[in-house]
Amino acid sequence: MPMTLPALPYAQDALEPHIDATTMGIHHGKHHNAYVTNGNKALEGTPMADLDAVEIIKNLANVPDDKRGPVRNNVGGHVNHSMFWEVMAPAGKGGGAPSGMLADAITKAFGSFDAFKEKFAAAGAGRFGSGWAWLVVNADKSLSVVSTANQDNPLMGKAIAGCEGQPILGCDVWEHAYYLKYQNRRPDYMAAWWNVVNWSKVAQLYAGALAANAWYEVKKDAGGKWMFNLKAGNGEVVLTSESYASKDGALGGIASVRSNGLDGTRFERRTSAKGEPYFVLLASNKEPIGRSEMYSSPAAMENGVQAVMRACGATHVEEVA
Ligand SMILES: [Fe+2]
Repeated sequence: MPMTLPALPYAQDALEPHIDATTMGIHHGKHHNAYVTNGNKALEGTPMADLDAVEIIKNLANVPDDKRGPVRNNVGGHVNHSMFWEVMAPAGKGGGAPSGMLADAITKAFGSFDAFKEKFAAAGAGRFGSGWAWLVVNADKSLSVVSTANQDNPLMGKAIAGCEGQPILGCDVWEHAYYLKYQNRRPDYMAAWWNVVNWSKVAQLYAGALAANAWYEVKKDAGGKWMFNLKAGNGEVVLTSESYASKDGALGGIASVRSNGLDGTRFERRTSAKGEPYFVLLASNKEPIGRSEMYSSPAAMENGVQAVMRACGATHVEEVA
């Protein structure tokens, strides 16, 4: 399937006054469109012509030598801009600060949200010429700020892009993104850009990156029965199962978590005798499959529920001694 230009998820003037309508129109309709057209031209007749654009840029080594340069620039440009439109939203819906687990992860990685913004702005301002500033999720699920040149993307890998990781936020620092309104004042553009960052979309991308590595740990409990732990991508246990008589029983419990985790209505929120909130995950026949740890607050418990819902997509089951 050839690449196509995605529609903007809002009107061309929706990001005013922070990003002007003329810039948006040219940026999307001319620049992004050119990456799509030229990327399709470069891919024509190659074995990757039918692959997803993200898969192509993750595997540039498979692109024939004479096409690699144009594919890197144009398919990279298409992937980067497709994300860029999505991580922005009109002021009011966009802007502000992230919440929940994303906010916690940003504080853990950078000290505070303001310190993160400073580091991100410095990455964009310090990128000589054209390129991008990124917030990425590393293989160990921590967060980093990186930048790339031209239309490189961290997904291309360190050898090509000079950095790696799963991007969850990207800021275009090419002059075409800001010159009409801000001329040479890239830092002013980046400062205004925070007003239109769509943090709920970034949180969704973050959750996706974490869930990619969620897994189930199957083991025998102290009494010799089988049980499992559901672990989030960051390695934390979010749910501990009941004890089962056999390993098959435990695997059946995992199957139940997967099907029930998709349906948030079967989480039962409870409070312990000591007043600590926790939740129980019930199978569709109302039998409990597992219970969470005790949480410090109802809000923290909601994070646990969400972690189970994300992790229900996990396929990795590991038996441990
Ligand atoms: Fe751009």
